Amino acid sequence: MKVLGLIGSPRKGSNTELLVDAILGGANKRGHSTSKVYLYSQGIGPCVDCRGCKKGDLQCIVEDGMQELYPQIEAAGAIVFGTPVYWLGPSGPMKIMIDRLRPYYGTDRLKGKKALIAAPAGDGPKEAELLVEMLKRTFTYLEMEFTGEVLGTGYERKDILKDTDAMLGAAVLGEAI
Ligand SMILES: Cc1cc2nc3c(=O)[nH]c(=O)nc-3n(C[C@H](O)[C@H](O)[C@H](O)COP(=O)(O)O)c2cc1C
Repeated sequence: MKVLGLIGSPRKGSNTELLVDAILGGANKRGHSTSKVYLYSQGIGPCVDCRGCKKGDLQCIVEDGMQELYPQIEAAGAIVFGTPVYWLGPSGPMKIMIDRLRPYYGTDRLKGKKALIAAPAGDGPKEAELLVEMLKRTFTYLEMEFTGEVLGTGYERKDILKDTDAMLGAAVLGEAI
């Protein structure tokens, strides 16, 4: 199975990426192929509610970096939504990307794909509660199969490495894909 990691942090060596890497490492161990996309560099603009995706072949007609991501999403059997907690929710680029999943709503094109969450927060897992709820309900709309989350505590870059429960949990989650 292909496992796609979406990185919604702007920082190099981010806590988000370290958690996603641990998940992907676990998935690799089980023989899955993995890849990553950095949402801050992908050039994805916001959904403009043009309703183009409700017509014809139900595809998004906005020509930007999302067009490169759609086939990767469709080819993946599992998708890791990695984002830092920003104001109790996802980072801007992660939310913008999620809005662009609108063409899949009401279709079965993402049905049954596994969805995982990796979300570090400065003040720890409790800060991620609303984010997890929002994503889980979004996965339900998209008929994706929520497969688990890994949350953790970290503020400075690489702080998450000190949260050994989170790092271990991420590896275990990846192996269970
Ligand atoms: C704009 C912004 C908003 C944030 N909001 C929260 C928050 O609501 N709760 C929290 O615990 N940490 C918050 N943080 C801290 C980040 O979650 C924390 O630094 C995290 O480790 C960043 O992840 P990264 O290393 O993957 O970028 C915020 C940070 C920024 C820059």
